[in-house]
Amino acid sequence: MSSSRPSSRRGSIDPARLQPMHKVHQLSGVGDFNVVFVGAGNIMFGSDEGPWNHSFRFEHKLGPRLKVVAIVDPAVERARAVLGEKCETFVRSAYEHTQVFRTLDELVQNMTPNMAPRAFVIGSPPMFRGTTQSGRDIELQILKNFPGVALFIEKPVATGPKEELAQAFKVAEEIKRNGAICSVGYMLRYLRAVQMMKQIIADNNLTVMATVARYAAAYEAIAKLDWWDKSKSAGPIIEQGTHFCDLSRYFGGDVDISTVVAHSLEWDEEAGKLSKQKIDEGKIALENRVSRVTSATWKYRSGAVGTFTHLTALQGHDYSCELEVYADGYQLKLVNPYVAPVLYVRRPGSDHEEAHQFSDDDPFFSEVSVLVDNIEDIEEDPETAQILSNFEDAVKTYELTWAIREAAERSRAARK
Ligand SMILES: NC(=O)c1ccc[n+]([C@@H]2O[C@H](COP(=O)([O-])OP(=O)(O)OC[C@H]3O[C@@H](n4cnc5c(N)ncnc54)[C@H](O)[C@@H]3O)[C@@H](O)[C@H]2O)c1
Repeated sequence: MSSSRPSSRRGSIDPARLQPMHKVHQLSGVGDFNVVFVGAGNIMFGSDEGPWNHSFRFEHKLGPRLKVVAIVDPAVERARAVLGEKCETFVRSAYEHTQVFRTLDELVQNMTPNMAPRAFVIGSPPMFRGTTQSGRDIELQILKNFPGVALFIEKPVATGPKEELAQAFKVAEEIKRNGAICSVGYMLRYLRAVQMMKQIIADNNLTVMATVARYAAAYEAIAKLDWWDKSKSAGPIIEQGTHFCDLSRYFGGDVDISTVVAHSLEWDEEAGKLSKQKIDEGKIALENRVSRVTSATWKYRSGAVGTFTHLTALQGHDYSCELEVYADGYQLKLVNPYVAPVLYVRRPGSDHEEAHQFSDDDPFFSEVSVLVDNIEDIEEDPETAQILSNFEDAVKTYELTWAIREAAERSRAARK
């Protein structure tokens, strides 16, 4: 994988170099590092739901150099509230002059030379981005008004109707043409365990034969009504399973989309009844309610086979997720990547599974760290990695998730 710009950097990361924030030796540049945050929600400032919190990682990566010059969010009060909280703490210097704007246009109109950003961090809902349509084209607007400024964009790249997929590819093309560095938030690629899997494949010159992925969500913990409504968040494969479809592609390569087949267990089937939903599903139109199980298989262009099962079935809090990658003589099994990653490796010569634990890993930090190093172009360190997920590649993941959803819907329609 590469970023939008040609680079001599490594396409993977030596897992030994992926360290938690407090252990990282910074090769930082000099002077203020101006950033604009688009969206002032959970991904940007954290929540109880998970470890994500981009502002926190930028603060640690850049220290006193970080200057958040603006936040763009129509929920101005929400943005002001988080700024107020930040200004009460030791990171005040990053936020004390932050201006809040309702829209990107407002920011452009009020921009002064000393606000010039080096990066936009985009964590607005995907329904407002990833297209060429006015109001849902933040990437194109940034490329036009801030050519060459780096972009970090959350996953998935969009959540509009399937017909808009071509527009997302168009956005990818424009980003490439502009030459802006662009990273998309598939942070699991930056896990030390995942990079160790890549290292084993590269060191042994392996060809991947199959990927087997399973993502079982703890639905009891999902209290956002929109998540349960396909018309709002496009359904659990596109919104959530996307991380594992992406990781599957990271190992299997491009998918032959015409081969995707899938089956689902639906909310109105006896086996699909759930007893611990925190939301009132009665408020969601029947046709927009989400599947309980979706299971898909496909062929990669390499000939390898991929399978993915998403389940809305577990209670409690933690998800249960696993990815197996097979090659001649090898099984690489990644278990529990969100909570406490363990990699089980079986190699030729023994039936024993080695278990590797990865304590203290923070892929959200590694993702931000690699982005900043690429923006600062710190060439003193040739081991600095390339960005591991670019926009075009992320659109291919989006395409795969749409193909799975549609295949499952076709199979359901045929059963009726
Ligand atoms: N990588 C991960 O593990 C991970 C985790 C959480 C969220 N995310 C992603 O981050 C994105 C945002 O999710 P969230 O949980 O922060 O949502 P959220 O609802 O908590 O926050 C979104 C914010 O964006 C604002 N907003 C709405 N329209 C906007 C627009 N047009 N321009 C700018 N801001 C706008 C909202 O007012 C809100 O403050 C989603 O794409 C989600 O999938 C990724």
